[in-house]
Parts: sequence; C-alpha cells; structure tokens
Amino acid sequence: MKSTEIIKNYDNCVMHTYGRVSLASEAGCNASCRDADGKEFIDFGSGIGTNSLGFADSAWADAVSAQAHCIQHISNYYYNEVSGNFARKLTSLTGMDKLFFGNSGAEANECAIKIARKYSHDRYGDGRNTIITLQNSFHGRTIATLSATGQDTFHQHFFPFVGGFKYCPANDITALHELVDDTVCAIMFEAVQGEGGVIALDKAFVEEIFKIAEQKDILTIADEVQCGCGRTGKFLAVEHFGVTPDIVTMAKGLGGGLPIGVCLAKGAAAEVLTPGTHGSTFGGNPVVCAGGTVVLDRVGEKDFLDEISAKGEYIRKALTDMPHVVSVSGLGLMLGITLDGVKAPDILKKALEKGLLVLTAKEKLRLLPPLTITYEEIDRGLEILRGILSGE
Ligand SMILES: Cc1ncc(COP(=O)(O)O)c(C=O)c1O
Repeated sequence: MKSTEIIKNYDNCVMHTYGRVSLASEAGCNASCRDADGKEFIDFGSGIGTNSLGFADSAWADAVSAQAHCIQHISNYYYNEVSGNFARKLTSLTGMDKLFFGNSGAEANECAIKIARKYSHDRYGDGRNTIITLQNSFHGRTIATLSATGQDTFHQHFFPFVGGFKYCPANDITALHELVDDTVCAIMFEAVQGEGGVIALDKAFVEEIFKIAEQKDILTIADEVQCGCGRTGKFLAVEHFGVTPDIVTMAKGLGGGLPIGVCLAKGAAAEVLTPGTHGSTFGGNPVVCAGGTVVLDRVGEKDFLDEISAKGEYIRKALTDMPHVVSVSGLGLMLGITLDGVKAPDILKKALEKGLLVLTAKEKLRLLPPLTITYEEIDRGLEILRGILSGE
C-alpha cells in the first residue's frame, strides 16, 4: 500500500487518540527509516524512546525471532529461563531485589502504587495511603496513573479519578515538607520529567525526598519509564542524584521496541505483593524478554553509557549555535529545546517534510534519538534542523 492508502485505512479503523502526522513507516535501520513511498527519514524520536537500539538491530531481531520460533508465551503460573535471566540482569543493573513484569509504563506505575499502599497498610493499617507526586509529572493513562499525574489537563473527562494523590511543585522543599503528613505512604517522581518538558530535578530536592522518606518510613518511587535504561547516560537517571529508591519503574526503551513495563523493588518493598494481589497475563513474555536481554547486554555496558553522554553533549553543543534556540535542557540523549520566535509543533511538521522525526514536550522540541545513533546520523538530522531553524 502507498502512504495515503495506509493512512486512510488507519484513520477509518483506529481511534483518534493521537494527533498523528502523515508518516506511514515501512522499514528502518538504526536511526534511519523510510516510509511506504520510499521517502527517507532520520529518527530523533525512537518511537518516544522505545527503540533504544534503533530500528531492526540485527542482534535484537535475531534474539526475538529465535525465541518466537522456540516458545512465544507461557502463563505466569510457570517458569521460563529467558525471562528469569532477564530479571536477574535487570535487578543486578539497578541494585533492586525483585521485579514485577507488566507490559507498559502505566502498568509498572500501577504496580508501584499498589506496592506502596499495601506496604503501608501491612505495617500501619488504614489511613496511610497518600502518594505525593510532582506537579508537571506524567505517570500514565490508566485512571490511577492519570490521577498520579500532576497536571490538571489530564484530570478531565474521566471522573471520578482515584483519590489519595497530592502534588508538590518540583524542587520546592518547603512545599514538600508541608505536604508530608501521617497519611503519606510514598513519594513518586521522575528524575528527569519527560512529558512535562524534559526537566531534570534539582539534586537538593531529590536528596530531601530521600531524607524525609527515610525518617518517616515513606517509600520512594522513581518513575524511570522515560528517563531510565541508559537514556540519560547512566543506566538509571537517579544515579545522577546518588540515591537508590525503594521502587523503580521502567518501560519504554527496555524492550527495544517491544512492550514491557517492570516495577522493581528492594528490601521489604520487594516482598509486599503475594499470590493473588497482582498479576498480568502477558507480563514477562519470553519473546519480549529475549529482545530486552540484548538491550540490557548493550546498554548495561559503561562504555556504551559514556557514548550516550558524549553524543548528548555533541548534539547539545550543535543546538546551542542554531537560530531560535534559547536553551537546551535534559541529560544524555533526552533533550528539550526551548525556542523563541517559532513554535515547536510547526518545527515538528517542517522537520517531517524535510525527513527528520522529532517530538515535542509541552512548548519544547524534544529529542530522544536511538541510543545507538551514529555521529553520521546525528549530523544528518542536525543539518536538517539547522536548515529549518534558519528558515531554509
Ligand atoms: C515518565 C512516564 N511514566 C509513565 C508513562 C506511561 O507509559 P506507557 O505509555 O508505556 O503506559 C510515560 C509515557 O510517556 C512516561 O513518560
């Protein structure tokens, strides 16, 4: 099918939950792809941070395909080596003790919310179930994770939302102290807010979260769905802040483009969920875990992580010289560009026309290239962006 036909078919049959742009992808390799009409693109978005190893990485595709030819799924009532080994690698890379397997970021966060509330209920009984999240955060699209999300725009249409969430302005230590009362069981945060505009938290604020949590037996939950799995140049973004949360949620880049979401926990928090208290039919799917293992083997290497930081700096430096660029936020290959005189959605559309895929976050342009992007691909993408910002 040609692009127009694919798009028409999609628009007829798939709910319009996204403001889609007119790209019908066909095939790709690393950070380059082409659409159904043969037009070439450089990818600075990696499927919103999911294709950590780019399009169709051959080791990843071989592992996925080999597993699909062997066993594609078996119920979570049974064991399988591939998913168990993936869990061992991931717990070891994150310093966590155990994980729960789901299929998306929202599910990973649902699990974290359940662990935090049950942990507190098991120890302290009723009434200690408030979770503090941050204003401008994003935690998912289920009713509970929308409720956890600290943005009014997401608290529309779907009433009633889940109670028991309070929202602290990011980096406001005074407000944090005011919000922590005897009803609080957990504090949840993104070390680098993604959808909220690619904003890294202040180190002092993160340290304060952990100080208060330690004093009051409040669990810390790091939502690393977007900023984790090497994206910022460390395996977990919290490593930049020198803290170890009780609970870490991950998704997006972890499966290299296949759906996975995990909730990792350490210490007593890892023992909270018992048979019947939580589950997922597809969670821990061996095909996904086979691909995820290739991701972990690559992204878990220090040299690979250092390269992510180096490429991030390279892009940041090039952006700083471009017209209309006011500032660049974020860490590693998670970058937010503040523009003046032009609007990010307009730049996104022009970039698409010229063969470059970018994202937006709030009023910023957001870049989440594949972690494997080459310097040659980076240069091609930056060249297109420079041309657009220069009015060419
Ligand atoms: C920080 C964060 N948490 C949770 C989610 C939800 O993940 P998913 O769309 O996989 O449910 C997202 C998605 O953008 C996210 O950025």
